[in-house]
Amino acid sequence: MYVCSCFGITEQQVKEHADAGACTPRQIASASKAGTDCGSCVRSIQALLGRGTCPRRELLEQGKPAAALTATPELTEAAQAA
Ligand code: FES
Repeated sequence: MYVCSCFGITEQQVKEHADAGACTPRQIASASKAGTDCGSCVRSIQALLGRGTCPRRELLEQGKPAAALTATPELTEAAQAA
């Protein structure tokens, strides 16, 4: 189903961008142009992001530092062992 008819962006594409790290409508717009023409889809994009589409959103809302968003357990353990 299309979320942004101006650019033909589907709900699935928004989810894929969210999985790749786009957590805000602005980041979705940078990745896909969705929301940058008439703007009527921005609320729908926001709603999609608000439904847990973005795995990192929860961390951002908890105020975790940016490093925590990119650190993987393996790397952290390796850093501690060094
Ligand atoms: S429907 Fe997305 S910018 Fe117009």
